[in-house]
Amino acid sequence: MRLDKYLAERLGIPRSESRKRIAAGAVTVNGVPCRKADTQLDEHTAEVAVNGTPLSGQYEKYVYLMLNKPEGVVSASRDKRDTTVTDLVAQAYPRRQLFPAGRLDKTSTGFVLLTDDGGFAHDILAPGRHVSKEYIVTLDTPLTPAMQAGFAAGVTLADGQTMDPAEAEPWGADPCVVKVTLHQGVYHQIKRMFGVYGAGVNGLHRTAIGPVALDQGLEPGCWRPLTTEEVEALRRASRG
Ligand code: URA
Repeated sequence: MRLDKYLAERLGIPRSESRKRIAAGAVTVNGVPCRKADTQLDEHTAEVAVNGTPLSGQYEKYVYLMLNKPEGVVSASRDKRDTTVTDLVAQAYPRRQLFPAGRLDKTSTGFVLLTDDGGFAHDILAPGRHVSKEYIVTLDTPLTPAMQAGFAAGVTLADGQTMDPAEAEPWGADPCVVKVTLHQGVYHQIKRMFGVYGAGVNGLHRTAIGPVALDQGLEPGCWRPLTTEEVEALRRASRG
């Protein structure tokens, strides 16, 4: 990769700014001052420093973020009217084309995974991969044994589609609060599944994607990068 591109991506600055710093002699590559913006380097091994400060850590080819989506924010990259999940992180990652790997309804809250790694997103979302998702759902009526049995067998939606088996179990003392685990992703799936039983959903919060749980301490609207272990665990889950 060219040095100016590397620097722009690592520092989140425009390429023109990166060239200025290189021309000013602020940058060293493997300890040697380098004023040529088109210098080719191996981004995985090169030691680049700016004003003597090393750009620590390896060059990260992709970004993977855990976001706690607040209510009212849309799971999309762009929207004409509403704030999107991508808008929430855009300032911190101005040079990345991040997008949500999977959707949550505008009224739903919780774990949204943002990345710019299309292959990874495809793998964890692909219908055949069955990466599970866990939700805490608040119903407008108590969970019934018929709902639980129906979820376990595979609910047939109003339009005739039969869902894969899923789990619905009581969560805490309130009989209207339910933990749901899905193994596929269909538009409005949980609302439609409970709708078959005449139950409405008052609240829906995603707490886990595959083996990775949403950090309890992450306030709505906040995010953090996934650890390497979490990314690897998701990759393993998507391989079955
Ligand atoms: N199922 C729904 O109905 N809504 C969501 O946001 C996620 C799953």
